Amino acid sequence: MSILKVSRMGHPVLRKKTKALDKATVRTPAIQKLIDDMMETMDEYHGVGLAAPQVHEDIRLFVAALDMARGDEPTPPIALINPEITPIGNEMVDDWEGCLSIPDIRGKVPRHREIKVRGLDRDGERIELRMRGFSARIIQHETDHLDGILFLDRMTAFETLTFLDEYSRYWVKNDDDEEEEE
Ligand code: NI
Repeated sequence: MSILKVSRMGHPVLRKKTKALDKATVRTPAIQKLIDDMMETMDEYHGVGLAAPQVHEDIRLFVAALDMARGDEPTPPIALINPEITPIGNEMVDDWEGCLSIPDIRGKVPRHREIKVRGLDRDGERIELRMRGFSARIIQHETDHLDGILFLDRMTAFETLTFLDEYSRYWVKNDDDEEEEE
C-alpha cells in the first residue's frame, strides 16, 4: 500500500463532476489498490473520510471511517462507490467540519441529521446504509466531493470559519476530534 498525495483547494480536480464505476471496474486490481491506498492515506492524515478527487481521481468513490460500532469493536473503514443520498426527515444540524484538501481550517456546516445512502461496496455489491449524526455528515461531505462541492460552499455564514489553532483554543472542549478532517 502507499500513501497518496492529497489535492488541495484550488486544484481543478476538486471541482470536477466525477464518473460512476460499474461493478466489473470496481473489482479490478487497480481500483482495489486505490481503495487500499486511500484507506492508508486517510489513516496517515487522521482523516475520517477521503474522496477520490482528493487523490486526483475523478471517479465516484470515497472511503470513510463511520461510527457503526457495536460493543467495543472499532468499525473498519468502508469504501462506497456511486453513492446516492436520500435525506430522512427535514431536520438539519449545524456542526464543525474540516477537510484534508483545506488543511487546518474548520467551519460549521448545516447537514441533514439522518440519511439513507445507496451505492456499491468494494466488491461491487449493492449496499444501503442508514446513518445519522456525525456519520451521516461524513457521507454528505464525501458525496459532495464527487460533485465538485467543498464544505465552504455549504456554509450559510462565515462567522464560524476558524483556523485549527483557534478552533482548538476557543471552540472545542475536548480535543478528541480536533484533528479530524474529511
Ligand atoms: Ni473533504
